[in-house]
Amino acid sequence: MHFTYRQLKVFEAVARHLNYTRAAEELHLTQPTVSMQVKELAEAVGLPLFEQIGKKTYLTEAGRELLMSTREIFDAWDRFTMTVDNLKGLSRGKLRVAIVTTAKYFVPRLLGEFVSRYPDIEVALEVANRDAVVERLSNNLDDLYVMGVPPPSMPLKIEPFLANPLVVIAPKAHALAGRTRVPINALATERFIQREKGSGTRLASERHFADLGMPMNIKMELGTNEAILQAVAGGLGIAVLSRHTIGRHAEEIGVTELDVAGFPIERSWYIVTPEGKKLSVIAKAFHDYLLQVREASNVSAPNA
Ligand code: PGA
Repeated sequence: MHFTYRQLKVFEAVARHLNYTRAAEELHLTQPTVSMQVKELAEAVGLPLFEQIGKKTYLTEAGRELLMSTREIFDAWDRFTMTVDNLKGLSRGKLRVAIVTTAKYFVPRLLGEFVSRYPDIEVALEVANRDAVVERLSNNLDDLYVMGVPPPSMPLKIEPFLANPLVVIAPKAHALAGRTRVPINALATERFIQREKGSGTRLASERHFADLGMPMNIKMELGTNEAILQAVAGGLGIAVLSRHTIGRHAEEIGVTELDVAGFPIERSWYIVTPEGKKLSVIAKAFHDYLLQVREASNVSAPNA
């Protein structure tokens, strides 16, 4: 049976997403390339790996068996590359980090500083919403994760990182702009622009509104923090977003933070690794570097 490591990589991504387009996006390949790789692998195996029923893609029995073996091969390969990286020390090797979108205003810069100390290491940074990061975590795709709502059902090592407050953001000229301690029910008639389902920001804001006994009148859903800021600036509604999404650019973007009672929602990011996972020398060094940043920042974060 002749197959390549690359075909297994492509197959694993299609099997995980059960979707050729999403696998192609993740791997930065075209969809015909992905289909071709899967087709060649199926020919090598001698059985179909996927079946299409209606619009849905399913793994066949051969596909499920191959997926299990593929993950074992990847695990063995990861252990091998980690041993080799450790033998090379901090001079070479790969660091794989996945972070939620709110952390992208922060972690890439830290990665930059870290890499400048070890210029020969290779870094793969994945930025996605909370559900997608949780999925990567459950498939053990990265060395380390930064997220705001770690999944409660998995055995994880969870360490508080930095504060990530969620604030109410409105257009600059909003009637409540500049007022102090606005009562929450002043927002009862507002239209909210919310992140997509699967976003940790959305999860936390909806929980907070539910705790306050306030309905959230969601009029629009958008997939990125930046698109929401633009929509808010354009007067389409108000939003609850991480304060980090505006940074010091509120004026420039055309938005402002409202001072609403019960806000900010005090949240934090966590550094998350699977319990018992043996980190490579590089991943351990990056982990320790993040903890140093936390110590230096003096911003205490609550426990998960
Ligand atoms: P997200 O970020 O909204 O992109 O999922 C998650 C978080 O801050 O918890």
